[in-house]
Amino acid sequence: MGATKNHDNLTVPVIPVNPDVKIQTSSLCFYHRHQQILHDVSVQFPTNTISAITGPSGSGKSTFLTVLNRLWEETQGCRISGTVRINLAGSMTDIYSSSLRAPELRRKVGMVFQQPNPLPMSIFKNIAFPLRLAHNSNKKHIQNKVEASLKQVYLWDEVKDRLQDDGRMLSGGQQQRLCLARALVLQPEILLLDEPTSSLDPEASNAIEELLLSLKKQCTLIMVSHYHDQIQRIADLQYMISEGRFLSQNATIHKESD
Ligand SMILES: Nc1ncnc2c1ncn2[C@@H]1O[C@H](COP(=O)(O)OP(=O)(O)O)[C@@H](O)[C@H]1O
Ligand SMILES: [Mg+2]
Repeated sequence: MGATKNHDNLTVPVIPVNPDVKIQTSSLCFYHRHQQILHDVSVQFPTNTISAITGPSGSGKSTFLTVLNRLWEETQGCRISGTVRINLAGSMTDIYSSSLRAPELRRKVGMVFQQPNPLPMSIFKNIAFPLRLAHNSNKKHIQNKVEASLKQVYLWDEVKDRLQDDGRMLSGGQQQRLCLARALVLQPEILLLDEPTSSLDPEASNAIEELLLSLKKQCTLIMVSHYHDQIQRIADLQYMISEGRFLSQNATIHKESD
């Protein structure tokens, strides 16, 4: 590791940053009360890729995702050790450092759950809500963002005449796209997806897969999936987890099109 002098002539370490790495965990452990759920996880996720995480039920996949956006902090009796760093503007930032507050982190690290979970409000407000939380108050700006996000998930044409309907009235596939739009409206740098198509029919799943592929240009995606075919179709990398341990890392998937 090199060193350089700052303006006060003090020597500070220069930590080399690999611009291709978006997320890096080191010796990460997660505990719920006396149960250890994640064991010594040291993995990297490259920028602008889709990584799939697979593994048996109960192996810690969902828990791992909640460690990347600090969602677990909402649950009592949990703790972690080790580090999680994400590449923000070219600097690897410890997401558990005091300089980064959880709401700010979650604007950069969006999440979509297995079961679509629209908020109990109109389609429009489902998307506008995170913008208002992020202190956007300009009405025109919010309208434009809502429209752009709904177009991005190919939902606009289906809902543009019923934006005031309750979001929970939509079909399963539409609800999942609404939740994706809600996650995307803040332009996250990382998108976590926990089995995003498992409650959808094949047609709706295909639409989501196409969308995820297109999002790779602007985002780094980590997706828990049980579907081998889906992983073959859209993932760049596959990580396998068993009993809280990552078994294989950076296993490049050979795609048929290669
Ligand atoms: N809040 C919690 N309370 C109790 N047990 C939990 C909690 N979160 C995770 N676990 C336990 O952690 C383990 C991993 O769960 P999870 O991450 O949901 O696995 P997966 O997503 O791979 O199915 C399981 O044994 C589960 O029971
Ligand atoms: Mg799970």
